[in-house]
Amino acid sequence: MKQFSKAALLCILVMGLVLQSFGIAPKDKSPKKVYLFAYSTEKDKGHNGLHFAWSNDKVNWFAIGPEHSFLKSDYGRWGSEKRMLQPFMFKDDTGLYHCLWSVNETDNVLAHAASTDLVIWNRQTYVPVMKNMIQDTNQTANVSDIEVTGKGTYTINWLSMDAGGTVFTTTTNDFKNYAPTQVGLVDDRKDLRKEITLMGETFEGTITEVEYSVVENLIITTQAAKYKNEHNRTSPESDAKLFAELKPLQAQIVIDAKQSKKISNLLTGVFFEDINYAADGGLYAELLQNRDFEYTPGDKENRDKNWNHTTAWSGTFMLDSLNGIHANNAHYAVLKNSTLINEGFDGIAVKAGEKYDFSVFARGAAVKVQLRDAVGTVLAETSIKPGQSWKKYSAVLSPKRTVTNARLEISTTGETAVDMVSLFPQKTYKGHKNGLRADLAESVANLHPRFLRFPGGCVAHGDGIENIYRWKNTIGPLESRKGMRNLWGYHQSMGLGYYEYFQFCEDMDAEPVPVLAAGVPCQNSGTGGAGQQFGIPMEHMDEYVQDVLDLIEYANGTTNTTWGKKRAEAGHPKPFNLKYIGIGNEDLITDVFEERYTMIVNAVRKKYPEITVIGTVGPFFEGADYREGWAIADKLNIPMVDEHYYEQPGWFINNQNFYDSYDRSKSKVYLGEYASWGSTMYNALAEALYLTGLERNGDVVSMASYAPLLAREKHTQWNPDLIYFNGSEVKPTVNYYIQQLYGSNPGDAYLQSFVKLSDNNEANKRFGVSAVTDAATGDLIIKLANVLPVSITPAVELQNIAPKGTATYTVFTEKPDSKTGKPVVSTLPAKEALTKELPPYSFTVIRFKAK
Ligand code: AHR
Repeated sequence: MKQFSKAALLCILVMGLVLQSFGIAPKDKSPKKVYLFAYSTEKDKGHNGLHFAWSNDKVNWFAIGPEHSFLKSDYGRWGSEKRMLQPFMFKDDTGLYHCLWSVNETDNVLAHAASTDLVIWNRQTYVPVMKNMIQDTNQTANVSDIEVTGKGTYTINWLSMDAGGTVFTTTTNDFKNYAPTQVGLVDDRKDLRKEITLMGETFEGTITEVEYSVVENLIITTQAAKYKNEHNRTSPESDAKLFAELKPLQAQIVIDAKQSKKISNLLTGVFFEDINYAADGGLYAELLQNRDFEYTPGDKENRDKNWNHTTAWSGTFMLDSLNGIHANNAHYAVLKNSTLINEGFDGIAVKAGEKYDFSVFARGAAVKVQLRDAVGTVLAETSIKPGQSWKKYSAVLSPKRTVTNARLEISTTGETAVDMVSLFPQKTYKGHKNGLRADLAESVANLHPRFLRFPGGCVAHGDGIENIYRWKNTIGPLESRKGMRNLWGYHQSMGLGYYEYFQFCEDMDAEPVPVLAAGVPCQNSGTGGAGQQFGIPMEHMDEYVQDVLDLIEYANGTTNTTWGKKRAEAGHPKPFNLKYIGIGNEDLITDVFEERYTMIVNAVRKKYPEITVIGTVGPFFEGADYREGWAIADKLNIPMVDEHYYEQPGWFINNQNFYDSYDRSKSKVYLGEYASWGSTMYNALAEALYLTGLERNGDVVSMASYAPLLAREKHTQWNPDLIYFNGSEVKPTVNYYIQQLYGSNPGDAYLQSFVKLSDNNEANKRFGVSAVTDAATGDLIIKLANVLPVSITPAVELQNIAPKGTATYTVFTEKPDSKTGKPVVSTLPAKEALTKELPPYSFTVIRFKAK
């Protein structure tokens, strides 16, 4: 509360300064009406969106920003797409501003968004207006130089981007539905786009007359954004300057057990996505790569000539697909008096004396199977005598030595066909067949996650409709599972499928939280359409909705149900007790999305009212998707929504009150993906501090998961991640230990604490305190995050609660730029624990039985 009012004051002060220093005239001297020029630039390949400049006289123009993006295009992929070319902005009779633009040089798309204040823009539409005119998909007549005229019914004309520049025309009332496009007349062009000179350059755009207050608001918006960015750009170096004069501090902390509230007992969990080789080559314990010869060049969008059905294999063999072992697994290798070698994932890591299950589908002549080290020494061997038709054969290999880079060789002196060649450690997590790599799974389990979200992330909704993750493709016999391209640029075998995910949740006593696509692919899609403008066709949506319902039956249905029976056949007759299901993943909120999402949500609610549906509110903590996602959640009364944000550590420090103002009567929040950009102690502490705020708001934030979880070294598409690994080592980050300290010290009631620091300036924001009680153990747990370069000596006064016995005292402190280190645990008399100095840059957990 105290922090909030300070922040508000600071904000007012800053705004005042901003107005003065940026030449906004006092009200009585300011012009009433001015001209506003709307344009985009080619900087950053057209990614910077809509800009404004203003003028009194249409001669002298003043940039607002100048490169501030008031509206960014959401069309297509991040990186290459999301461009705004030649925007056309105008104000309609109701005062609503409309902006239309072209998205690129290839698609026939007219983009539109509207706004009442030019700062907050509603959802965007992208209509391929040329579709009725262009039969030949290679032919392009793209949208350029748009002009809009009319009222209520608008006529839009544009030029094609080809050399001739044909005029095309259409009409619309709502910028969603357009009349069939016609070839227009050159005379229809009114030259509504204007050229101005701004900062010595010429720009083309549109001019609208507006109240000067509109311009004022735009200027304030840009300056507030700049201020926030600078304010969030903290680092250990900037701290050293900011706190150069700061002396060690004292903190009076009063914790009152009478002022408590119930909080979620599922607060921290894990987000698992098959990114960075987290599944194949990661958590899934299979040691061979491309065991089924189903990698395809398309997995890497044909960009890697070495990526195909033979990747990870060498030796002399032929590839065939005639009469394979399963329609979903057509390809196999044929050896003729030759040797076939699999290199695993950067070599195969095996341990001396441990047992490894080798299996293969084979037909033909006998084969010798050997594990060899890098110089060719045999570590273990066996042989197999297949028959003339496909059959699975198994053997156990036990290597003589520990190596990290073994390879598996299969040789024959005759002709043998092989497929689904597998080498699996017998020591998997909890000993399951087709199970998880023990050390990695243990490191996840040691976080004490209260839930596990899977299978993503973007992987859940895929790159294009065809790439949407379909859970039914991931269950059943391994040879029948349908692997596919992983949108992170590799292949997912689906060996780690829905059954294995549910089993992992059960093993860790974590709630399963599967996330399914909302009938639309990832907003970053570039395949089969751009982003989420193209959802599953409505005529196939019933089938898709049924898939979602079937998943719930698979998890919870009795063994008499179709899908419950399949679960039982896989080895788990008891239900998995699924309680949550996520629909959508940080989707672009479009009409296409909303229609499909509503259908799925309503169907789940109707058939399974006991299931908590988790909706989606975009990839950021603000913006159109966040606002519109929340508006849909309100409209549909969605019980919980999934928020995502990846930000600078300073953002987490400056926004620890983010949820204090959330309306408790609305949807609960699952903070499904968050991380500060980096793996240093500074990042970890910013997260620890933020988590004190999440605990305080545990009545509205039900769950939170750091993302992503796992990353295999040399195969990482996203940084930072919580746990890095290679074939034989697991390397938790310092951020991991913060998650672990929260995971192993959860509470179900939050006790109000009052904190008074001996310095009442900026330092206040760097000290977070959270006190919770845990009904199951009767413990009081106090967490103290000190993100300052000085120590803090606390004096904790407990009201209406008292320690019983000694305290477990855990302190985690490192230099802020350190990437290594671990918390240190000791036992202390409770009184000492409550007054012990907290080191600079530290996170401390004090835990004791309470009476
Ligand atoms: O966590 C990595 C990615 O970040 C997820 O796949 C996606 O949901 C988000 O953009």
